Amino acid sequence: MHTSFQTTNGKGLDRDSVPMKLWEKAKKYGIWNPAQLNFEQDAKDLAALTELERQFILQPIAQFQAGEEAVTLDLLPLIMVVANEGRLEEELFLTSFLWEEAKHVDGFNRFLMTVLDGKLPDMSDLLVPSYKTIFYDILPSVMGALKDDPSPVNQAKASVTYNMIVEGVLAETGYYLLNHTLDKIGIMPGMREFTVKLKQDESRHVAYGIYLISRLVSENGDEVWEAVESQMNMLLPLAVNVVVEGYSMWDEIPFGLDPNHFQEYAIDQFQKRFARIQKARNQSIAEVVQDSLSTEILAS
Ligand SMILES: [Fe+2]
Ligand SMILES: [Fe+2]
Repeated sequence: MHTSFQTTNGKGLDRDSVPMKLWEKAKKYGIWNPAQLNFEQDAKDLAALTELERQFILQPIAQFQAGEEAVTLDLLPLIMVVANEGRLEEELFLTSFLWEEAKHVDGFNRFLMTVLDGKLPDMSDLLVPSYKTIFYDILPSVMGALKDDPSPVNQAKASVTYNMIVEGVLAETGYYLLNHTLDKIGIMPGMREFTVKLKQDESRHVAYGIYLISRLVSENGDEVWEAVESQMNMLLPLAVNVVVEGYSMWDEIPFGLDPNHFQEYAIDQFQKRFARIQKARNQSIAEVVQDSLSTEILAS
């Protein structure tokens, strides 16, 4: 039951809060339309590649497509928790978050339908074993656990899995590298434009996750911190394995790519974020907010 509403009881919206600042960014940068991306040249470019090169590009794209579907399907329990706790500003931002994940699903489907001539084959074999462990089992299970027990520990485990690992290590880094690779070869302009948008959206999602985990650590102390640390230790090697297993599918790595490049970038990004969350152990909520507002994505 509601006893009053913050928008009419004199409190209003906290416009200086982290989620409201992210909401403003989302309204400014998250309103692009996947239907306006043009993948016609991408289809021609892919057709001109060797079979190995073509499959090498389509394999991570199949994982991105399925991953976007997974995060769209699995986000709702977190939105329920935030709504039940009356965190209106966070819920406002999370509406843009879910809408963006839906657009990512839409965009990859448009890409695949264009480059595969309107016929979608079963691409499940392109999802490697570590990928399946994360996306078939761990992600839905930690997100689903919030329905029965939305404790701070469970919220932290869910956000570490969803925001830090799936989005922060796999998606954001994957999009950076796909963009970098296509740029280097000079092909697939539609996908390059798409990955720039995807990476921008994912950066806001990850920023929210870091804020959420930091808030939970600051409010609840060691119990939550230990859950964060053990979830990360369990998932980071699995996430790195997704890439290792992906590369090991091929007899040779095309385009002169260095498989270590991904790992270095992913681990570097991860460590910066890990340090921020670790700092929250000794911070008040006000300090957590201050730190979040001063990061690159919100300071500009
Ligand atoms: Fe996404
Ligand atoms: Fe996301």
